[in-house]
Amino acid sequence: MIVLGIETSCDETAAAVVSADRRILANHVLSQTDDHRPFGGVVPEIAARSHLDHLDRLVIAALRDAGAAVSDLSGVAATGGPGLIGGVIVGVTMAKAIALAHRLPFVAVNHLEAHALTARLSDDVAFPYLLLLVTGGHTQLLVVEEVGRYRRLGTTVDDAVGEAFDKAAKLLGLGYPGGPAIEELAQSGVAARAPALPRPMAGRPGCDFSFSGLKTALAQAVRARPHLSSEDSADLAAAFQDAVAYAIADRTGRALRLFIETHAVTQPTLVVAGGVAANRTLRSRLDALATKSGARLVAPPIALCTDNGAMVAWAGVERLQRGLTDDLAFAPRPRWPLDATAPRAVGAGVKA
Ligand code: KG4
Ligand code: ZN
Repeated sequence: MIVLGIETSCDETAAAVVSADRRILANHVLSQTDDHRPFGGVVPEIAARSHLDHLDRLVIAALRDAGAAVSDLSGVAATGGPGLIGGVIVGVTMAKAIALAHRLPFVAVNHLEAHALTARLSDDVAFPYLLLLVTGGHTQLLVVEEVGRYRRLGTTVDDAVGEAFDKAAKLLGLGYPGGPAIEELAQSGVAARAPALPRPMAGRPGCDFSFSGLKTALAQAVRARPHLSSEDSADLAAAFQDAVAYAIADRTGRALRLFIETHAVTQPTLVVAGGVAANRTLRSRLDALATKSGARLVAPPIALCTDNGAMVAWAGVERLQRGLTDDLAFAPRPRWPLDATAPRAVGAGVKA
C-alpha cells in the first residue's frame, strides 16, 4: 500500500509518498518563510496563493521521486484541518480532484492526528502512548489510544508554545520564525544573568499550560533595558527558553504520572511532536524526565516534527488500513479538536 499525502494548512506546501511498511518514498517540503518574513508572521492570503502556485509541481515531483504512477496509489490523503482555511481548501481540493479522476479513496486527515501518529512511522511506537504536541498553534498533552481515539489531559489556556517563542523573538528584535532564532541566540547567553522569569503553571494541579504571563514578564524585562546589549538579549533568550522548557517538563511529568496510573503498560512511552520538538533544551529536559519516570522518550527526526507531507500520508495509511475514508463532500475544517469530548480549559482562548 502506498499513499500520497498533501499538507497545506499553514506556511509549508508539502507532498509525500509513504508506504504501509513505513518507508518514505518521497517527501517534498517547500517553506514559505521568505514570503511571510517581511510581515513578521504568516499572512493567510499569501499562504493560500503560494500553496496554489506550487502544490501541483510538488505532487508531480513526489510521485516521480517515489517512482510511482498515480494508478499505483492506494489512496490520496490531505490535511483537512485545523489550519488556515484558504490553504486547507487548496490541498483538499487537489486531493479530491486526483481521487475523483483516478477513482481512488480520499482521506481527510486531521493535522494534529498527523503529528500524533508520526512516531509510529518513524519509530513503530505501539498504542497507547502519551503525546506532548507542541506546535505554533497547539500545546497539548494527549493519550493516544488508537487511530481516531485521543484523550486530552492538558492544553494551553492562552498562547501556544510556538506562538510564545515567535512573540518572544519579536520582543528581542529577532526574525520569524522565532523558535529557531531564540534557540540560536540562547546558545551564547546565560540564563542566570537575566532577571528571573516565571515558570507558568509549574507545581499547579492539572496538566494545562499558560504562556502569556511569561511573555509579559519578558516584555517588561526588555522595556526595563532601553539599551539592550546583544549579551543582554542572549541572556534573556536563554532565560525564556529555560522557563518554557521547565514549565513544559513540569506539566508533562504530571501527565506521565496520570498516564502510568491509568494504563497498565510495562514501559510507558512519551512522544514529543510538532515544530517546537526541534528545541534541544526542551528535548534534554524531557529526556531527563523520561529517565526519572522509567519511560521511553521518542522524538521523531526534526524534518518529521515540523510540518511535512509524510506525516499526512502516514495518517492516510493508518486510516485506510482501518477502512476510514472520506466522502468527496468533506468540508475543510478550520477547527478540529482531537478529543471532541474534552472540556474547554478554563480561560482558554480559541486555540484550545
Ligand atoms: O509544527 P509546526 O512546524 O507548525 C504548526 O503546525 O504550527 O510548528 C511551528 C512552530 C513555530 O512557532 C516555530 O517558532 C516553532 O515551531 N519552532 C521552534 C523551533 N523550531 C520551530 N520553537 C522552539 N525551538 C525551535 N528550535
Ligand atoms: Zn503542524
